[in-house]
Amino acid sequence: MPDRGPTLILGVTGSIAAYKALDLIRRLVGEGVSVHVVATSKARPFFPAMAAEVLSGHRVETNLFSRKPYTQEEKLHVPHLSLLSRADAVLVAPASADFIARLALGLADDLLSTMLLSAKVPVVIAPAMEEAMYLHPASAGHRHTLNERGVLEIPPESGSLASGMTGLGRMASVDQILSVILPILRARRPPTGVLSGVRVLISSGPTFEPIDSVRFLGNRSSGLMGEALARAAMARGAQVTVVSGPTALPPLPGTTHYGVTTTREMEDRLRELFPAHQLLIMAAAVSDYRPRDPLPVKRKKDGKDWTLQLAENRDILLGLAEMRQPGQFLIGFAAESVLDPAALIKKCRSKKVDLLVANDISNSETGFASTQNEVTLVSPEGSINAFSRADKRVVAEQILDAVCKEGWPPAP
Ligand code: CTP
Repeated sequence: MPDRGPTLILGVTGSIAAYKALDLIRRLVGEGVSVHVVATSKARPFFPAMAAEVLSGHRVETNLFSRKPYTQEEKLHVPHLSLLSRADAVLVAPASADFIARLALGLADDLLSTMLLSAKVPVVIAPAMEEAMYLHPASAGHRHTLNERGVLEIPPESGSLASGMTGLGRMASVDQILSVILPILRARRPPTGVLSGVRVLISSGPTFEPIDSVRFLGNRSSGLMGEALARAAMARGAQVTVVSGPTALPPLPGTTHYGVTTTREMEDRLRELFPAHQLLIMAAAVSDYRPRDPLPVKRKKDGKDWTLQLAENRDILLGLAEMRQPGQFLIGFAAESVLDPAALIKKCRSKKVDLLVANDISNSETGFASTQNEVTLVSPEGSINAFSRADKRVVAEQILDAVCKEGWPPAP
């Protein structure tokens, strides 16, 4: 995929927390960030550079100067300048006490410190060290100096440390780091694309309907398709709001996220949000029925059968289609056990959507809990476009490409 997103230099220094940098790289790449790792020599024992190269897709740089062989004329390669010119920010995670001191003093004796001495982009540090080192007046003084120079610190957490002690100094969590660095990167390089500035509302995951205080009716939707759509829409420049039923996925950084449980909660939230959005993607697997009289307490066994009466839920999508204002585009999903083209076109029209994404849920390798999907896109005019099985991230791009082919969004 082409590099559409921002570029980050990730500095890794000598701390046991360097192993967490791998997860950080994986998550950043998943957010569309092009990550270039620069490791200090002290990071080496703690940091599997090969794994970092595989995850980031770029060479881990360590040397101030290197010769790149096999170019037409063997040129002296100066990574601290060539990499920096493309970077939107530098994040040092973990930042050891020693590295923070060197940074504060302006030393430039290796690649990372040299880069930071030339950097004109935002610099963020995530310290990791023992509590006594973190609290020592020397360290505190260095952090103060850096802070005055505009370097942003993501403070460490309390927890178990490399020494086996418990205290302050554990590097901030990957989620915490992402919540700081992603807005910085996006602000420096607002994504451009066909959905630039468009407000997109995505429903995702299942809905759960209570039977009693502990039991519920639900389905196996994982929320992965909705998440992939949210990522893809953000990468195209959209402002994304997600309304998600209960899933194992954390809220996606960069989106406005609302968690709901029941169909009614999802309906209320979507009806409130829909008027302020231009594109609705109804990817949630909404429960069509709910127990008519949920019990407020856990039902006790009484040796008899238990018959549940189910009431039909309102069709959220249809209700939203009826509220539609000019310029709004609606996408519905259809979970089908058999893909019958005539029935799909009929469903697309009866749901009053601009595009229906049908998927065959009889195949366990695609659909609900899988990372893959195989979709057929149906328009109310009767066009049917079947795609082959692909990762949900690719399917999300196929769906958004189809929206944009429809001549949407209209020019402002
Ligand atoms: N949907 C909805 N509200 C419901 C049920 C479904 O908004 N109460 C939405 C789903 O989010 C999806 C689309 O309608 O975008 C189609 O869902 P699907 O379950 O395939 O269709 P149903 O309308 O429920 O029809 P059926 O299951 O009978 O085929």
